[in-house]
Amino acid sequence: MAKGDAAFVGSIPATYERLLVPLIFAEPARRLASAVLATAPRDILETCAGTGVLTRQLVAAGDAYVTATDLNAPMLRTALQLCRSDHVTWQVADALELPFGARSFDAVACQFGAMFFPDKPRGFAESLRVLRPGGTFCCTVWDRIEASPSWRIVDDAVNAAAGEVPVQFLRRVPYAYFDPDQVRQHLRIAGFDDIAVETLSATSRSTPEETAEAICHGTPLRMALAAHPTLGIERATEVAAHALREEYGDGVFDAPIGWLQVVARKS
Ligand SMILES: C[S@@+](CC[C@H](N)C(=O)[O-])C[C@H]1O[C@@H](n2cnc3c(N)ncnc32)[C@H](O)[C@@H]1O
Repeated sequence: MAKGDAAFVGSIPATYERLLVPLIFAEPARRLASAVLATAPRDILETCAGTGVLTRQLVAAGDAYVTATDLNAPMLRTALQLCRSDHVTWQVADALELPFGARSFDAVACQFGAMFFPDKPRGFAESLRVLRPGGTFCCTVWDRIEASPSWRIVDDAVNAAAGEVPVQFLRRVPYAYFDPDQVRQHLRIAGFDDIAVETLSATSRSTPEETAEAICHGTPLRMALAAHPTLGIERATEVAAHALREEYGDGVFDAPIGWLQVVARKS
């Protein structure tokens, strides 16, 4: 992990919620919420809650009380505007140093956050610590970038335009933690002993321009592009949209997205 890799700040939260959530996070949230609520938890800790797409699903579908946490206050401020339920508490917290006592929750949920942990076993061990015996940890991580081809196309196009200074954020961070055996191993090191990993997919629907804006403006890739010596955010967005039009044509297109959903229990 490099400085800024987990910086979901500035204009990112608003773009993230407007474009990325409907594009790639809403459907995984629906499925992850089902997995979490299947265990009938009374209280749920959510780590890496972001703008709250999973939180809203958890609250809408059940009676559970959710403590929704994230490293970045700006993400939670956007989340709060969209969900003021008395079943949710929002709190800034690092998933690797949770400010909660041992055995405090029936379930811990983490949607697409573990890829950002600088030390994955430690992050998982923190979730294990705050779970009650018999509690469940549910999380998702992205499958390899080839399982989400529109993202692979954008990454390739941006890097082709980046010249001698590659922009590696997507393959280095969000799309780097896709090996089910590695995820299982990290969970076992953390102390989980009943681990199921499922490979899931769905279809995202968008236009080339929206997808390009979502990826280049709505993630910490934005910072890498802004710091690039020759490319810049706007040029990268144009290059990305052009590559998507070449592949999918003008207007709305459907593209697959792929991810891993993990359920692990504390004995
Ligand atoms: C890709 S977003 C996912 C957000 C949300 N779960 C969703 O599905 O839309 C990753 C989130 O992880 C948060 N994050 C990164 N590192 C973290 C850490 N160490 N502890 C807590 N949150 C972290 C970021 O601030 C960001 O909101």
